[in-house]
Amino acid sequence: MDRVGLYISLEQGLTPEQTSAFSALIQRRLSHEPTAYITGHKEFYGLDFQVARPVLIPRPETELLVEKAIELATTLLTDSCLIADVGTGCGAIAIALATNLPHATIYATDVSSAAVEIARGNCHRHGVSDRITLLQGELLAPLPEPVHLIIANLPYVRSSELVKLSPEISRFEPLLALSGGTDGLEVIEGLVSQAERNLLPGGGILLEIAHDQGQAVCELARRRLPRSKISITTDLRRLDRVVSIFPTWQLTKE
Ligand SMILES: C[S@@+](CC[C@H](N)C(=O)[O-])C[C@H]1O[C@@H](n2cnc3c(N)ncnc32)[C@H](O)[C@@H]1O
Repeated sequence: MDRVGLYISLEQGLTPEQTSAFSALIQRRLSHEPTAYITGHKEFYGLDFQVARPVLIPRPETELLVEKAIELATTLLTDSCLIADVGTGCGAIAIALATNLPHATIYATDVSSAAVEIARGNCHRHGVSDRITLLQGELLAPLPEPVHLIIANLPYVRSSELVKLSPEISRFEPLLALSGGTDGLEVIEGLVSQAERNLLPGGGILLEIAHDQGQAVCELARRRLPRSKISITTDLRRLDRVVSIFPTWQLTKE
């Protein structure tokens, strides 16, 4: 029942069947299952996404990555824009971009075929299946052509930190979506090292990172793409959140 439905039915009691169905849902929440997996939905960038156990529940922090990509694409790539969302999960980033950038054509990849199928359902529900091509595979390997923007919220939790995650995350969200190896940067480094040959001139990479990974990601970007312009964007809490890497050509006017 949505919020309006609840208000107009405040006087209505529950049947015994509804009470027991509701108690079963409460039990799942008491066992730490996240609400989004119980309801099967999560809002991201003003859009509703279907989510299930094979995909990470989209986080509000990731909206900054979408904002940065929209800003770049609208100010600098007005005619057409090719974007790759790598590690798309439920498709949240790709679909938010397709909805807000009518001139964009998007590839969305994920190593998990179950995630790709969930993203496919969300693309269909949001009417953007014609502008998002879903591809299953490792990082940028499935891309059929170079793109202007590579955008990625890849797994970045260090192995040693996995045990410290809340049970909502560690018991329910997919390890494949969380684990970034010993230093947390293994998957990100894999992407950055493949990026140059998958970017069009003037193109760049936007990466979501953990708040304490800014310097380390900048260093690995300088190592892998030495002639790049690299910057960090902080979130509303002033924590490092997005790293932008523009190899060789400058896309920004700064
Ligand atoms: C942190 S989740 C992000 C999901 C979604 N983009 C979001 O922001 O909500 C990372 C995603 O990357 C995928 N992934 C992990 N390793 C990958 C790899 N080597 N190549 C492609 N995708 C990968 C996972 O399956 C997962 O869906």
